[in-house]
Amino acid sequence: MKLFDVYPLNDIVIEKALGSYVWDDQGQKYLDLYGGHAVISIGHTHPYYVESIEAQLHKVGFYSNSIKIPLQVQLAEKLGKVSGKEDYNLFLCNSGAEANENALKLASFYNGRKKIIAFKKAFHGRTSLAVAVTDNPNIVAPVNQTDNVVFLPFNDEAALQAYFDAHGSEVSSVIIEGIQGVGGINVASESFLQLIRGLCDKHDAVFIADSVQCGYGRTGKFYSQDFAGVNADIYTMAKGMGNGFPVAGISIAPKLKAKHFMLGTTFGGNHLACAAALAVLEIIEQDRLMENAAAVGAYLMEELKKLPQIVEVRGRGLMIGIALPEELKEVKKNLLFKHKIFTGEAKPNVIRLLPALNITKVEADMVLAALKEELQ
Ligand SMILES: Cc1ncc(COP(=O)(O)O)c(C=O)c1O
Repeated sequence: MKLFDVYPLNDIVIEKALGSYVWDDQGQKYLDLYGGHAVISIGHTHPYYVESIEAQLHKVGFYSNSIKIPLQVQLAEKLGKVSGKEDYNLFLCNSGAEANENALKLASFYNGRKKIIAFKKAFHGRTSLAVAVTDNPNIVAPVNQTDNVVFLPFNDEAALQAYFDAHGSEVSSVIIEGIQGVGGINVASESFLQLIRGLCDKHDAVFIADSVQCGYGRTGKFYSQDFAGVNADIYTMAKGMGNGFPVAGISIAPKLKAKHFMLGTTFGGNHLACAAALAVLEIIEQDRLMENAAAVGAYLMEELKKLPQIVEVRGRGLMIGIALPEELKEVKKNLLFKHKIFTGEAKPNVIRLLPALNITKVEADMVLAALKEELQ
């Protein structure tokens, strides 16, 4: 059997990883400014994280959601505290798409409605509803196409207001990334998020903050939507939550009530996933990683803005997009193969920096020096 060939691959095999570095099978060291797609939050193979998962594995790795799992309760308490949403409730699942799928379903259960507002360039995942609210027709199969989703322009307050004025009583939910990741690092304006809050309140619609990529402290606040000073009704999270262990969740405002069997999963919230997620939160809290993300992120953005040829630097904290002109297509490839630095990308020519939240200023200087060389 061969692999189903859906990923264009770089010809690199990673065999070892530590902190913000990875090593390939030839012993070559790379600086990781990509974090395996915003997943590595506390650094690769963090010793406390490794110990926690290993210790749990020796006790019990998995049992189903038909029994009490105290680790889930501990995780919910810790997440409530670190995220500053202590009165919210936690539902655990396994991936970002699944988190969004459950959030959209829960919203529809809550108000009995079907219409969902999503935004241009949004990415919310590949399962049926998650992909239906994703603005990329190439990954939407015919069976996923639905009239229930409307795509409005991102940050366009007049368009949002007009849609609610005309159809407010039909809107089940509004789903938005606080910072669009796949779409190219586009920051939702504070006034736009505040308007979503106000309109959802007025029309009893549900505000879903997709925090799968921009959440978990990456921007310097736990959820990037927090910059707007308003609460969403549901926060979806995944990537940084398990530092690579597949775990995801939705944080649910108290007004959305649970009923037995309305949501469920076999693997979600298993013992090992909870041990991983708890270790991540402990490290984020103890090592003040949100403060570090804010400080190193601000430094990086300030320095990047001084470099020649960059069209725009966008983002917050350690979620940074560097928009380059078309003719500088080679920069990302050169960073990887010449300078041995992993970065992410977005269309048309945006380099995405999504490092671990404990990246140091010295490591930030390494990518700045490499970029300086490439852009001169
Ligand atoms: C904002 C956002 N939402 C949802 C997802 C889907 O997450 P997953 O790949 O874990 O299903 C992603 C993945 O890149 C994402 O960036």
